[in-house]
Amino acid sequence: MYSLLLPSIFLVASCHALVSTRELVPHAIQLQSRVSPKEATLRRRALNPATVPLADFFLGTDLQWFGNISVGTPPQNVSVVFDTGSSTLEFASTMCGSSCDSQVKFDYTKSSTFVDKKTTSSITFSTGVGVDPVVGSNYRLSLRAAQDTVTVGGLVATKVAINLITSQTKKFSIDPFSGIQGMSAQAQGFFASLINQGLPSLFTLYVTPNAIGGAELMIGGIDKSKFNGTLKYASLPNPGSSTWSLTSPSISVNGKTTSLLRQSRDIIFDSGTSNILFSTDTTEAIYALISPKIKAHAAQPGTYGIACSLIPTLPAVIDLGFVDENGKPFNLTIPSSELSVGPFADSTSTCQTLINAFDGLELVGGSVLKHYYSVWDVGSQRMGFAAV
Ligand SMILES: *[C@@H]1O[C@H](CO)[C@@H](O)[C@H](O)[C@H]1NC(C)=O
Ligand SMILES: *[C@@H]1O[C@H](CO)[C@@H](O)[C@H](O)[C@H]1NC(C)=O
Ligand SMILES: *[C@@H]1O[C@H](CO)[C@@H](O)[C@H](O)[C@H]1NC(C)=O
Ligand SMILES: *[C@@H]1O[C@H](CO)[C@@H](O)[C@H](O)[C@H]1NC(C)=O
Repeated sequence: MYSLLLPSIFLVASCHALVSTRELVPHAIQLQSRVSPKEATLRRRALNPATVPLADFFLGTDLQWFGNISVGTPPQNVSVVFDTGSSTLEFASTMCGSSCDSQVKFDYTKSSTFVDKKTTSSITFSTGVGVDPVVGSNYRLSLRAAQDTVTVGGLVATKVAINLITSQTKKFSIDPFSGIQGMSAQAQGFFASLINQGLPSLFTLYVTPNAIGGAELMIGGIDKSKFNGTLKYASLPNPGSSTWSLTSPSISVNGKTTSLLRQSRDIIFDSGTSNILFSTDTTEAIYALISPKIKAHAAQPGTYGIACSLIPTLPAVIDLGFVDENGKPFNLTIPSSELSVGPFADSTSTCQTLINAFDGLELVGGSVLKHYYSVWDVGSQRMGFAAV
């Protein structure tokens, strides 16, 4: 599934330029990131961690995990994907005409705290929803800026910048959720407000496969009941950028690697996408180590496939190598069970494979994240992983 909700890199960069959030990170968070005694952190902490249950958008493959926030006064539930690949909050509203008819729409006329900021903008995503690759601007939202109260996991943030979707391209109509809550590596919106109120500046994701369920987002804390073993942390290579990425010195497939796969690359972690996007040469080097029968699927540029009947026999363990904070290597491992993302609509005996070629982006999403409990530590600009 290539359902990626990552806006183009340029967009992320421009959002970052528009909204400077660094000064919103309070001193208390700095204390915590310095391994200070727990008591000290607790004394400064005004808000306790909160949990948001997540539902899995599942179409034979796990596509996205989404949960409710509430917006306005009195609060209206708005379901959103918590998307580490974007920065802002946008959702369907009654300002949106028939293009949002398959989503629940936020009725701004019923909120006493709603403020219309009137400016309009648009976002084009380079990853979409579902299993179709993004072509041109087929994932595009038109937006109107506003402000309202946003509550997440019961924690209230007032005067949060929101964007009402005023129209959207057809590709969004399969979404069972109404919008996207950006959770980039620089806190913005409700999260910046909660950090200001004393919430520790990190969040965690437990995005499980459909058969397991119980997925959750925790803001401000780590839910130790969800994993055994220790978290391995790796520092972001570009602290201060909005992008959640880590440097990967090498990739191995079924225990083997090649000189191309041993080249260092920064890999983006996008909770809003199910698939993997790698440059064409990396994609083809990985597939060559799995099976020469994996071929580009011409009808959908960027996708690859193989006869579905061959999938069960193919070992396809992909180890993404990283280096932890202490200089020790560790792998994030994608098991063979992730190889197929399901049959192509136009060729049902051919199964689409998990990596799409997309030059200019190296990005992983749900197919990696659902095998780990993940910590997104904004305050310390690092990510942590523990196998589940
Ligand atoms: C979100 O809230 C709606 C009602 O507004 C409810 O039906 C749905 O189950 C909730 N979704 C999740 C993931 O909690
Ligand atoms: C809103 O969503 C929350 C969390 O999913 C749920 O517990 C609650 O029942 C929903 N509220 C309404 C009014 O449906
Ligand atoms: C942790 O390990 C214990 C003992 O093996 C097991 O009962 C429990 O289910 C595990 N918890 C998780 C979250 O994997
Ligand atoms: C990562 O995976 C590769 C390939 O399977 C393996 O050779 C290497 O030892 C692993 N590294 C660690 C730290 O486990």
